Amino acid sequence: MQYGYFDDNAREYVITRPDTPYPWINYLGCENFYGLFSNTSGGYCFYRDARMLRLTRYRYNNVPADAGGRYFYLRDGSVCGGDVWTPSWMPMKSALDRYECRHGMGYSRISSARNGLAFSQISFVPLHDTCEIHKVTLTNESNVDKRIDMFSFIEFCLWNANDDMTNFQRNFSIGEVEIDGSRIYHKTEYRERRNHYAVWAVNVPIDGFDTDRQTFLGLYNGFDHPQVVFDGESKNSVASGWAPIGSHRIKAKLAPGESKTFVFVLGYCENHEDQKWEKQGVINKKPANNLLAKYGTPDAADEALAALNEYWKTLLGRFTVDAEDKKMARMAGIWNQYQCMVTFNMSRSASYFESGIGRGMGFRDSNQDLLGFVHLVPERARARILDIAATQFPDGSAYHQYQPLTKRGNNEVGSGFNDDPLWLICGVAAYIKETGDYGILDEKVPFDNNEALADTLFVHLKRSFDYTVTHTGPHGLPLIGRADWNDCLNLNCFSKTPGESFQTTANFESGIAESVLIAAIFVFTGPEYAEICRRTGRNDEAQYAEKAVASMTEAVNNHGWDGGWFLRAYDAHGKKIGSKECEDGKIFIESNGFAVMAGIGVNDGRAQKALDSVKEHLDTKYGIVLLQPAYKDYHIELGEVSSYPPGYKENAGIFCHNNPWVTIGETVLGHGNRAFETYTKICPAYREDDSDLRRMEPYVYAQMVAGKDAVNHGEAKNSWLTGTAAWTFVSISQYILGVRPVFDGLLLDPCIPSSMKNYTVTRRFRGADYHITVDNSAGVEKGIKSITVDGNPHDGTVLPAFGDNKVHNVIVTMGK
Ligand code: BGC
Ligand code: NOJ
Repeated sequence: MQYGYFDDNAREYVITRPDTPYPWINYLGCENFYGLFSNTSGGYCFYRDARMLRLTRYRYNNVPADAGGRYFYLRDGSVCGGDVWTPSWMPMKSALDRYECRHGMGYSRISSARNGLAFSQISFVPLHDTCEIHKVTLTNESNVDKRIDMFSFIEFCLWNANDDMTNFQRNFSIGEVEIDGSRIYHKTEYRERRNHYAVWAVNVPIDGFDTDRQTFLGLYNGFDHPQVVFDGESKNSVASGWAPIGSHRIKAKLAPGESKTFVFVLGYCENHEDQKWEKQGVINKKPANNLLAKYGTPDAADEALAALNEYWKTLLGRFTVDAEDKKMARMAGIWNQYQCMVTFNMSRSASYFESGIGRGMGFRDSNQDLLGFVHLVPERARARILDIAATQFPDGSAYHQYQPLTKRGNNEVGSGFNDDPLWLICGVAAYIKETGDYGILDEKVPFDNNEALADTLFVHLKRSFDYTVTHTGPHGLPLIGRADWNDCLNLNCFSKTPGESFQTTANFESGIAESVLIAAIFVFTGPEYAEICRRTGRNDEAQYAEKAVASMTEAVNNHGWDGGWFLRAYDAHGKKIGSKECEDGKIFIESNGFAVMAGIGVNDGRAQKALDSVKEHLDTKYGIVLLQPAYKDYHIELGEVSSYPPGYKENAGIFCHNNPWVTIGETVLGHGNRAFETYTKICPAYREDDSDLRRMEPYVYAQMVAGKDAVNHGEAKNSWLTGTAAWTFVSISQYILGVRPVFDGLLLDPCIPSSMKNYTVTRRFRGADYHITVDNSAGVEKGIKSITVDGNPHDGTVLPAFGDNKVHNVIVTMGK
């Protein structure tokens, strides 16, 4: 069943009933201030860091689900006894005569109605400011006068989200607020080391307020039964300790047909250390005044929203798709890129599965995410690369994670994930291919965040490359360390203790366990490194790199092939993993997809065999599972991978991130039909009408879909923050639709289903616009017969970087 539909012209997903199979969320914000926003107005917001500077509370894993948000309670006095309801459905689960939630690019709009009273709320974070705006309109659609009481409600988080959930002996005594007219200030800890506060304001005079949770709700009530609202009277409570909240009461009289609009702003403000106070105990409200002055009227809010819309229009205008297959077109042209921007902003920190207090930015994750957004915000990709590279160690290894607020490597997690260094090469190569900016290689970048150890970015790449070259095992394959891309293949962490981290308990530096996947990543990225060297006049280094790639390919040929597919690894005892000899885990997806992507075995039929085996053993209706057979038991020598019940996560779940590697592999072999099939299987838009099983948003990828061994095969989890976004975008835009940035320009190399007869792609690339029309009336899967550019025949398949700010019309005719 479907719970909504795509409105492609508006770039919105329209949810038509509130009881979606899971809260379906959106992200507000694109710079420093962010909000998570569900289709029933649940969620929370934070300034830059979801752990350190969280403005509002959210209760993860709560019953009922999705507890905490920006709520508006309405009390309709024209209905006998006073009808109390929540127009976003939650938290009261009010029966609604009408409901709709439109999630758009950086904003969400909820509209509903009950008993002739219509409500609309549009929520967004304006560009360049640190606040959420909620513009609320009430309309009397009945033919009688209405007396409405509206109560706003948010619950403040005491900034550090982790302490907020755990350190109650302190927290219950520190909450502080100030109230000034319609403005409620949250200033917990401002008296001491913080120089920031939050403000929850509305642009009209109010008829009461509350700031103490217990007073507002009643100690034994939930969000669904706030005492104050049912009493119809604010208590003007001033929080002191316990749980500070913000609630305004607004009385509105509405004649039939009349509308009233209110602008609520939830903002984050900072003061300089020496300007914190207006007078003893009274915060300096200047920054709040400035912020609120900007958004004091509905028109001002509308203008800010229009600017936000323009921002997204321009951004997504850099890559657009038109095709008969609307599902593909809307995913590739809109939602997939949108999700890539969200992973750029959030990494893996805050979703409805990532609580925002756990992980920082991943070294490998951020480098891979970059593949999906570099064409949208190349300047920000550049800055990101330099931040990431600064957390690399002088020997080329890297902190596995770093903190976005401090940009420093995370000591608790440390290093030792031996695929990490190579992803830096992959990210930098993508950046240079997109921009042609070799200058980035000369940037001085610290090692280990230490300026004294700074060297050029090129040296960072060399250390990355050399790290793999110098850390090989008995078969000449790369040592795996704590894990490679598969965080759960922990071949040197023998953990027996419940609760211990599988990744950081590296207690067995075998010097033996090797990864065929890292070898394949090396063979994929090594030539890019060599190419960068050659193009910057480093010919000796290029030769050295090419040799190293050749010998790694040899190692894979000699020790990484299992007869029907590529092996996955060797464990610390030198035993094969991902081999027909194994009882479970005979075949894995990652090494097979990546090896073929890297071109290994393409000339001798092994690549074809490997992908045939993947299809035979790993493919399902909902995508390709990570391995088969699933591990039935815990294997201390394999680690976390065998800790999951069969069919979930890395233990034979459909771990979507690596499905596009197979898609790309299929295009390397020229299989357009098969490539597209693997693409569509995990693509959420194709499962829109299957939402009861899939459960996650039909407009974003999920990290995992339960595999065939799981009870709930086909059910998705961990939506939004996944490397799937970047890699699927690469697979569809660069390898299927075949518009691929290369060092010399834009390569055209479509590999599509034979049934796809034509499509167009527009692409902004190095300062020019390419309007590319592909004609496949020949019905082939791959192969270009001719190309014209601006009406003239074009030799070869690489379009030059015109860089002239003009539109160039390109016609590609496929055929033999
Ligand atoms: C998950 C992995 C994740 C790792 C590190 C594991 O529990 O299964 O997907 O990469 O934790 O956060
Ligand atoms: C999620 C992690 O963020 C990513 O780094 C890892 O590659 C995958 N899980 C697979 O384990």
